[in-house]
Amino acid sequence: MKNTIIPRHMAIILDGNGRWAKEKGLSRSKGHVAGFETLKKIVPYIFNRGVSILSIFAFSTENFKRSEAEVSFLMNLFVNKFRKENKFFVDSNIKVIFSGRIASPLPDNVQETLRELERLTSHNTGGILNVCLNYGGHSEIVDAVKKIVQGGLRVEDIDEEVFEAYLYQRLPAIDFLIRTSGEKRVSNFMLWQLAYAEFYFPEIYFPDFNEEQVDIALEVYAKRNRRFGGIQDETESD
Ligand code: IPE
Ligand code: IPE
Ligand code: MG
Repeated sequence: MKNTIIPRHMAIILDGNGRWAKEKGLSRSKGHVAGFETLKKIVPYIFNRGVSILSIFAFSTENFKRSEAEVSFLMNLFVNKFRKENKFFVDSNIKVIFSGRIASPLPDNVQETLRELERLTSHNTGGILNVCLNYGGHSEIVDAVKKIVQGGLRVEDIDEEVFEAYLYQRLPAIDFLIRTSGEKRVSNFMLWQLAYAEFYFPEIYFPDFNEEQVDIALEVYAKRNRRFGGIQDETESD
């Protein structure tokens, strides 16, 4: 698999934790814990395969609709994993950044944990992990418009490049999106950045997504024919 085309910016909607647990007769919480273990295995592997930026969907603005028990379990899990295991990210040389409304209704200790992990890993150079948490694609665009209006920009100052500078993070477009669990939808994830991404929907639940699955996904991507509105073979022109 050497010399293959590797996406620069890859994204994963990690889905299926609940169904994975249910199939095993476990609580949904156990599925979320298993999902985090999977992340710890595959994130360093993905960067080792040559991906520079990995965006993951950890919690959507809509996920606050879930039961109070599930939401509070997930909030505690974020604190546990991103604070108590921050050494993992520091030692793996991964720069962790967060996208989303890092504000209320996220509990204060979650907000502090995220900011602290960003600070601790800010000088790391082995890959950028963009964690989308309390994130919504619509909210990101609305928040960007608000900042533009607050900044007093004039209509003639605005183009796509300027607009992008007001998104949560300055990142290049997503090349390749994977959504596990067989669901074939975007669920309000990175709408602006996904404009020309290739999509791949493996049936597997996220806790079972392993290094071998990453290799299969990267092979799928390498075979895609990206055209960006042009045509592949210029000799086909009239
Ligand atoms: C993804 O798994 C994790 C989060 C959304 C936080 P789900 O919890 O959505 O799992 P399913 O879709 O119910 O199986
Ligand atoms: C999307 O998954 C959000 C995350 C993976 C964090 P959901 O499981 O919440 O999405 P829907 O409700 O099935 O569209
Ligand atoms: Mg789901």
